[in-house]
Amino acid sequence: MAQADFTIGDIPIHGRLILAPMDGISDAAFRLLTRRLGSAYSVSEFINTLDYANQKNYQKKRLLARQEERPFAAQLLDNDAVRMAECAARIEEEFHPDIIDINMGCAAKSVAGRGAGVGMMRDPQLVRDAVAAVSRAVKVPVTVKMRLGWDSASLNFLEIASLAAENGAKALALHGRTGKISFHKPAQWQPIAELKRAFEKLPVIGNGDVCTPADARRMLEQTGCDAVMIGRAAKANPWIFSWRSREEVPIQEVAETAIWQLGDMLASDPENAVLPFRKYLKAYLEPSHLPRETMRTLLTCPDPTRLLALMNEIFRELGATLP
Ligand SMILES: Cc1cc2nc3c(=O)[nH]c(=O)nc-3n(C[C@H](O)[C@H](O)[C@H](O)COP(=O)(O)O)c2cc1C
Repeated sequence: MAQADFTIGDIPIHGRLILAPMDGISDAAFRLLTRRLGSAYSVSEFINTLDYANQKNYQKKRLLARQEERPFAAQLLDNDAVRMAECAARIEEEFHPDIIDINMGCAAKSVAGRGAGVGMMRDPQLVRDAVAAVSRAVKVPVTVKMRLGWDSASLNFLEIASLAAENGAKALALHGRTGKISFHKPAQWQPIAELKRAFEKLPVIGNGDVCTPADARRMLEQTGCDAVMIGRAAKANPWIFSWRSREEVPIQEVAETAIWQLGDMLASDPENAVLPFRKYLKAYLEPSHLPRETMRTLLTCPDPTRLLALMNEIFRELGATLP
């Protein structure tokens, strides 16, 4: 196999584009699809370790990854170092992820308000304790995904990165916004460059507002980061992981991808596949500018067999050749 682009701990990583973890989007089917298209590794949707401890099955569903998806990182979200370490050990035993990632970026009020997600960045002692305890509890490398800081008055990503690295973190992902900056404001990339300059030996993964392959190239060049994490733009263009803009993707491939994805989601959860699938289908079909009525029929169809038939019909009309 070709030489790795970089390593996380002892795990070779091939490629410089990575699907960002996204609650409600980076499910098992979408992750596998993006891995096949070139995403260098997968990260689970966040696992709330409190819910995991209480045996909530939906948390476990987030940890099912296929062999082909590896390296696979399980992402923990909590505000308690001991509980996170215990949960990491159990996840390692039950699901054998290749990496454990700690979420220091989620800014939802209910999460950050209780000191989890980006809330951790306000508590350096918690960062120290959590990274150290989780690193001790598992054999696999531990990584951290963070923001610039809690708000613009506390841009402490360099301090948090140092604490994480000193206590065992093997890679650092940085989303170029604070917890208080909404998606309407642009992400800052300069801090990603600062982080890379400060941590030459650790992989630094830049994140925020990468919408096209050209953006990804620009982030790599401008910041010197080792890889780029792509979130929202991936939903409409998973092909970005093979360095293609959406206009470059033939309708045949869009059709085959969408049909495969629905099939894969149905195979893993027949009762709950159609609803979560609709958001991808809507995003994939956006550039085709279908009549509003056609979209409505597609996106309200509750029956998987009927939906597949409709998709086949529409993709054929758009020029795809389907069996
Ligand atoms: C719908 C949604 C869900 C997200 N869920 C998570 C999550 O579970 N864990 C996490 O670390 N970040 C989560 N994020 C943040 C993304 O990983 C990423 O940092 C952010 O979207 C910025 O990247 P982008 O500009 O490429 O979208 C989420 C973002 C979105 C839009």
